[in-house]
Amino acid sequence: MEREMELEKNIAVKIEHVSKWFGKRKVVDDLSLETYEGEVFGFLGPNGAGKTTTIKMAVGLIGIDEGHIEICGADVEKKFEKAMANVGGIVENPEMYKYMTGLNNLKQYARMRKGVTPERIREVVELVGLTNRINEKISRYSLGMRQRLGVAQALLHHPKVLILDEPTNGLDPAGIRSLRDILRTIAHKEQICVIVSSHLMSEMQLMCDRVGIIVNGKLIRVTSVEELVQGENITGGRYRYHISDSEKASQIIGGFQNASVIETDPNHLEILLEAGNEQILSEINRKLVLNGIELYTVAPIEGQKLEDAFIELTKGDGQIA
Ligand SMILES: Nc1ncnc2c1ncn2[C@@H]1O[C@H](COP(=O)(O)OP(=O)(O)OP(=O)(O)O)[C@@H](O)[C@H]1O
Ligand SMILES: [Mg+2]
Repeated sequence: MEREMELEKNIAVKIEHVSKWFGKRKVVDDLSLETYEGEVFGFLGPNGAGKTTTIKMAVGLIGIDEGHIEICGADVEKKFEKAMANVGGIVENPEMYKYMTGLNNLKQYARMRKGVTPERIREVVELVGLTNRINEKISRYSLGMRQRLGVAQALLHHPKVLILDEPTNGLDPAGIRSLRDILRTIAHKEQICVIVSSHLMSEMQLMCDRVGIIVNGKLIRVTSVEELVQGENITGGRYRYHISDSEKASQIIGGFQNASVIETDPNHLEILLEAGNEQILSEINRKLVLNGIELYTVAPIEGQKLEDAFIELTKGDGQIA
């Protein structure tokens, strides 16, 4: 609801023409994008795409070779302290003392940050749903609880940007769901920009408002998850037909320039319409019927659209299609 009001969008992170080399290898290549307060933004890409490297540059863990990154208007390199005051991040495992309680860990961490009140500690504990367990030692926490404590820790100093590299790694489905709900709530209710990374499309589809797809260090697309799920701007529409004569139908559909038949058996076929050509569906249907084909059903194919799109874009092997 709150997102639909579309107040003005505040830029949280601005990445401008950023490149990074490791030795002679360019692992981040002229990457530019903006993320906004109040959204969950995901870096989606296969292993080695450059997600962690980009995140490390944004949180100041490694230098930027070319280009600039700003956090809430402050340049990460030129105004480091100011930029970092607005970021909370978990890139590697958060530093925690297992023999201490969750609460004492947060207190310990709070000492290193300015202006964290006991009230704020209570607030973040509540936000991540650990109120009932916060007085237990971390050694008794599940991985999911530790991850949530890490999020609480990263939020202590009221950052406008929360950056988490592969936050759901190793969590079970219940843990993933709970973290996902927490992150979405934080973003939408607290107007924080939450940035996550993952190589799992299905997960990003559920967690994010927008995703940026990174392949071989290049940002190849930024899009809302809704658009990707609808599948329109990348793969075009996919439809499944139940008809009387799929061979004849294939020939007819093959005559349309922007449509292709991708699978057939005698009574079923699937067609793929190129992006932006969904309107020809009615023309196709009319032509099928006029040619004496019984058209029982036509259904859009839903489901793993983001995954389809991702595989389509990367050809499944991390190479740009
Ligand atoms: N410290 C480093 N020295 C040399 N090469 C590195 C270093 N860190 C990363 N790389 C290389 O940079 C490329 C991008 O790595 P990065 O860790 O950013 O990918 P990623 O998208 O986070 O992948 P994953 O999904 O596996 O976490 C990879 O080819 C990796 O081998
Ligand atoms: Mg990584």
